[in-house]
Amino acid sequence: MEQSSHNSTEKVGQYYAEWTDRYLESFGTYFQALQTTEQEDLMWYIADLMHLGNGMKVLDAGCGVGGPALSLAKRFEVQIEGITISDNQVAYAEENKARAELRGSVNFSQKDFHLLDEYYPENHFDIIYFLESLVHSNDPERVIRAVRKVLKPQGVLYIKDLFKGPRNPVDPQYVEYAIQATNEQFCLHVREMGDILNLLTQYGFRLSFCRTPEVDQNFDLGNAFTAKYLFQLKMDQEGPWTDEGFIFLHWMEVLAHKHY
Ligand SMILES: C[S@@+](CC[C@H](N)C(=O)[O-])C[C@H]1O[C@@H](n2cnc3c(N)ncnc32)[C@H](O)[C@@H]1O
Repeated sequence: MEQSSHNSTEKVGQYYAEWTDRYLESFGTYFQALQTTEQEDLMWYIADLMHLGNGMKVLDAGCGVGGPALSLAKRFEVQIEGITISDNQVAYAEENKARAELRGSVNFSQKDFHLLDEYYPENHFDIIYFLESLVHSNDPERVIRAVRKVLKPQGVLYIKDLFKGPRNPVDPQYVEYAIQATNEQFCLHVREMGDILNLLTQYGFRLSFCRTPEVDQNFDLGNAFTAKYLFQLKMDQEGPWTDEGFIFLHWMEVLAHKHY
């Protein structure tokens, strides 16, 4: 798969240095477009899918300001490593942690998820999850290879992300234009779902499923955020966002196990 210096890890760090305060204002502590109406319901749903249990070692890859990891550690006696490319997100995550009553432990740090195998021992984590974060990578192959190393045999990988693919029939040229604009504005690399599935298979993962998340999907915060900052994004009012939201994207979830 192509590696690109476009929207590099460094640029993603700069993007969140500039935008984290606006995300916080619009999203609270869960920086995700696809949410559930009760924010924590999403995490209970994901915890169930991942078979999260007490005593497990978990990595939240691209943890934002910590909302998801702190929710899990409130309910489960787990040890979570939350990593983000953004220094200021670590500082906010620490503040959020100071206010939370936890059963488990959470450790936040600034790290790059392409280099997981440089930070953690082999076969270390029971579960690794990515919540709308892998889409920032310009080299997902490197990420998946590193995930494979630091995940225990039979360990769980869960990815929830946005992928190319219109939910309604739309002109393919419009879709390409809209994806490009989205990548530029949000510092992303939106891909075909198949690209990620191929990598997982290539690196020894067995897929359990790839599907639309089976939750009461709520895009209100994401749509409001986009609407609010259209002006600052200097986007043409005629596109690519419509009243129906991001009609050229699919939000999908993948569950896989490290097989060999
Ligand atoms: C849309 S936010 C989602 C945050 C979090 N998962 C949540 O649900 O609130 C994307 C996150 O991915 C992180 N990220 C992007 N590229 C990264 C990288 N190379 N290494 C570590 N984190 C990264 C960003 O710092 C940010 O925290």
